[in-house]
Parts: sequence; structure tokens; C-alpha cells
Amino acid sequence: MKQELKKHIVLGLTGGIAAYKAAELARLLMKQGVEVQVAMTEAACHFITPATMQALTGRPVLVNQWGAAESGMAHIDTSRTADAIVIAPATADFIAKLAHGLADDLLSTLCLARDCPLLVASAMNRQMWANAATQRNIAQLGRDGVTLLGPCSGAQACGEEGMGRMLEAEELARDIVAFLQNTPLSLALSRKRERELEGVRVLITAGPTYEAIDAVRGITNRSSGKMGYAVAQAALELGAQVTLVSGPTALPKTQGARVVDVTSAAEMFDAVKQHVADADIFIGVAAVADYRAAQPSEQKIKKSADTLTLELLPNPDILAYVANLPKPPFCVGFAAESENLREQAKAKRKAKKIPLLAANLAQQAIGADENELILFDDAGEHVLPRTDKLTLARALVQHIVILYQQGKQR
Ligand code: C5P
Repeated sequence: MKQELKKHIVLGLTGGIAAYKAAELARLLMKQGVEVQVAMTEAACHFITPATMQALTGRPVLVNQWGAAESGMAHIDTSRTADAIVIAPATADFIAKLAHGLADDLLSTLCLARDCPLLVASAMNRQMWANAATQRNIAQLGRDGVTLLGPCSGAQACGEEGMGRMLEAEELARDIVAFLQNTPLSLALSRKRERELEGVRVLITAGPTYEAIDAVRGITNRSSGKMGYAVAQAALELGAQVTLVSGPTALPKTQGARVVDVTSAAEMFDAVKQHVADADIFIGVAAVADYRAAQPSEQKIKKSADTLTLELLPNPDILAYVANLPKPPFCVGFAAESENLREQAKAKRKAKKIPLLAANLAQQAIGADENELILFDDAGEHVLPRTDKLTLARALVQHIVILYQQGKQR
């Protein structure tokens, strides 16, 4: 059944190879009842023609600030009637312009003169994405309340592999429609990012733990730490004082956070016990190993023909410990389940006595760049549709802010 959204967006194209995906994106959005007005930079026209976009959308494409086709006040008129402006693809250069409020062509002028949400789908080479200037600009857009869609990691047009690839048209269409439908994700993300956690102390666990069996072997899991680090980043953006207790990961240190590196669950537990008295909010994102070897060997265990039996002892449940303190901080847990996600998550929230639990499917979440979360709290469940982990983390932290502030008012 065709869904009639009755929304109107401006789809802005800038000059990147991913511009070819914008044609399919326009088609998918229109199929779902979204009216699409395309605006292109001059550079975008080198990658895909305005004629293609015009044929797909049935509307003349806006390109030139000074062109006769547009009304004299195109920049104001066009953004006034839009429910959102979506830039896809957004190049590093265009993102830099947005971050600094430049308006030297029609599309950047439209963005500056808007009175509606702005969504940006970055698309660039991995080194351009990783560059400190781009990261600064992206963080600035986040602070300005711009919704960031992607990028993701994968094969790039230049032949390299890495972060910076634009999301696929289907993924973008799904996220944009979710945004226009006012889901919890859209509401959380469209709020202007004030420093709502200024002075609030947030303690976060992230990554896997490693439980030694002998000098060289151990028990661990495939957690990359990306979700926990993204949550730390999102809390920092809102002005929180963040302590990040991290198991072994390959991620760069989070700037601005106090990072405590640990290896085993026991070390993570000690670090949490040491810092929890100073925490207003505790977020347990770490995939803590449930068991450890009863008697880890200091030497490498020698191979033999006999069966080797490892005795395992359960590890302490760090989150349950924190939640059961006489004066616990506001506690948030994660649940990675491989089946019966909703039932297991609800039971876990109850068992651990925590106000908020974020559930995800283990096979989709662990180690991946993207994820999908269902938040469970006293009000019920809130779905955060599939997107990159930083976007999800920002939505999760916005939700935490709301519940934390409500709790303080009681
Ligand atoms: O019970 P389960 O391991 O599925 O619970 C997951 C949640 O509990 C996560 O928030 C995780 O960080 C936390 N946890 C913990 N200590 C453990 C096991 C899990 O803090 N030993």
C-alpha cells in the first residue's frame, strides 16, 4: 500500500560521485508520498544532470542563484515551504560551508535561510572524513541541531576502503521517512543540541573484556567498543564530564573524556567502583564477559593428548551492582540478544532494576558500524531505526537527558 506522507522536502545535491544515488533516493521518497524539490550546486551538475533529476521529480531543478528560472527570493521561498532540507550527497567542502554559515551559492543560501530541519548525508573519501577539520565541522553541525545520516564504511569510488561512504538510497529514504513521520529518533535528533548535560558526570563502560586463560590465551568477544565510544562522544557534545572505562579496543582515545583502560571484568568492576560515587549517570555499554577462568595459568598451557577442562567462574554483574547501590546514579543498560529481543530486554530491565535499557540484536550490532536500538523504559518501548552508531548514540543520550531531568524534578 502506498504510504501518503504528504511532506515536502528540498533535496540538495553537492559535487560528489555519490550524486548518482540521489536519483534513486528521489524516486524512493516520491513513491512514499514525499514531494521532492531538487537543488544542485554547480559541481553536482558535473556528476548527474539536472535534466535527470527534473525528469524524476517533475519539477525544475534549482541550480543558479542568479538564474531566470528561479524567483528573486528562491532561497527564502523554497525553504519556507519545505518540511526539511536533505543534503545527499554532502561533500566535505559543503559540510565546511554549513558549519561556518557560508552562503555563496543557491543551495548553501537555502540552508542558511531555512526554517526547517536540515539532514546531511556525508559522502567522501575516508581520509577527508577522518581529517580533523571535517570532524570539527561535523561536530559543529551536531551541536547546531543538524541531523547526520551516515556515513558508513565500505568500498569507495577511489578504490580505497573505509569510512565516508554515503548510505545507500534505500537506507537514506528509510531514515528520512522516519524523520518526517516524527518517530522518537527524529524527535530526539531534531532537538537543538543545547549543552543539556553541562556539569553532569557520566560514567560509561565500553568494549569487550578479556579474561586470561593462560599467558597468551583468553576469553573475549567481538565487541568493538564503537557503541560505547559513540555514547561517550554524544554525552561530551552535550557538555557532560565523561569517564569512559574501556576494555581493549582498537579505537582512538576519545578527546575530552577521562579514559580508564582496563582488560578484565574484575578490572572494569574495580574502575567502576572507584568512579561511581562521582557519577550522576551510569551507562553500561560494555560487553562484559560473563565468565572468567577459575585458575588462569601464568605460563602458556602445553598441548597434550588429554581433554582439557576449563573451570569458569561467573563474573560480577557491574551494572546490577551500580543499580543496587543505596544511592545509585541514573542507570542505563544495554542488552544484546540473539533471539526474543523484546521479551528478554523487558525481563532484563526488571531484573537489573534499571530505568532505561537499550536492546539490540547481537548478530547485527556487535562489531558493526551501524545498529538499530529499541529503548525500554517505564513509558514502554521506543524504536530507533537502523543508522550509524553515533546518530543512535545521540538519540539515546537525548532520551537519557529527558528521563534524567524528569527524575530530578520528582
Ligand atoms: O545480563 P547481560 O550481560 O545481558 O546485561 C547486559 C548489560 O549489563 C550491559 O549494560 C552490560 O554492560 C552490563 N553488564 C555488566 N556486568 C556484567 C555483565 C553485563 O555491567 N558482568
